[in-house]
Amino acid sequence: MNAMTKVSTTERYARAVETSKRVRWKVEEDVIRGRRFDTAHKFLPDGLVLADAFTTLSASEKRYVSQIQGRTYANIFGLVERFINAKVLELSHDHWFGDQVALEALVRFSDEELKHQALFRRIDAMIGDVLPKGYRFDIDPNGVARAVLGKSTWAVLGLTLDIELFTQLHYRQSIDPDTELSELFKDVFLFHWKEESQHAILDELEWVRHDAGVTAGQRDRAVDEFIELVAAVDGILQSQAKADTAYFAATCGRTIGEDEARAIEAAFLKSYRWQYIHSGAQHPQFGKVLTSLISEQQGRRIQAALATLH
Ligand SMILES: [Fe+2]
Ligand SMILES: [Fe+2]
Repeated sequence: MNAMTKVSTTERYARAVETSKRVRWKVEEDVIRGRRFDTAHKFLPDGLVLADAFTTLSASEKRYVSQIQGRTYANIFGLVERFINAKVLELSHDHWFGDQVALEALVRFSDEELKHQALFRRIDAMIGDVLPKGYRFDIDPNGVARAVLGKSTWAVLGLTLDIELFTQLHYRQSIDPDTELSELFKDVFLFHWKEESQHAILDELEWVRHDAGVTAGQRDRAVDEFIELVAAVDGILQSQAKADTAYFAATCGRTIGEDEARAIEAAFLKSYRWQYIHSGAQHPQFGKVLTSLISEQQGRRIQAALATLH
């Protein structure tokens, strides 16, 4: 590592700390502000729901789908932020007796991720107050976190960068000038994005730092583990697409036949794969960092795996 790289890396940790202090927000005072959700509004924007994929549904049914997906959004983030925070705390160990600015950046990252989990638990409960009974999200965040953390740090950091980059794209989708979009949910995207922007920078710094200490063999194995993690995320998305379709069919107010239920489930899965896998994997910054760490052959393995998830 030359002197220039070292200076700019230190500087990037310092800027992340500075920005984290400047943008810091509170769940109730800044995000919720005494508001409630209103079912006259969409919770997720069309660009994330991929509303056009739900070809058999009316406009009001598509709005209902966006509300169900909004609740699932809160639950998925509550889940991924559990393992992200644990990994960040683990990585902070490397900085205990080293760069104290880097250590501060990771401590703040962890603190923010704990707050985000509290925000998303709050959002889940608030949506539960206005939508029909019967919604289910049966995946245990601690069980998933244990499984994820069983993989190598290299693979977990790859998945984490993917996730934290897609929250930025989600924010950009949410500023779509759609007058039906919930102002409260738009604020969830806005405030989450403000802190996630630093997390994505720190993921990159930590991934590159960690990568410098692994052997070619370890990295090659980690590429396979990254693919396994993406497949595990897809398994979660498949089961939630099924659960959310069943909930929609039971509560939408009309009878949904078997063929239509299959089409709705396929559309739910398509939007979840877009939201939680491809929107990050296709992010230019993700591609840039990933290709700087791996060989062309490893890149082709990852692309081939991602191509199966359509
Ligand atoms: Fe977060
Ligand atoms: Fe984050």
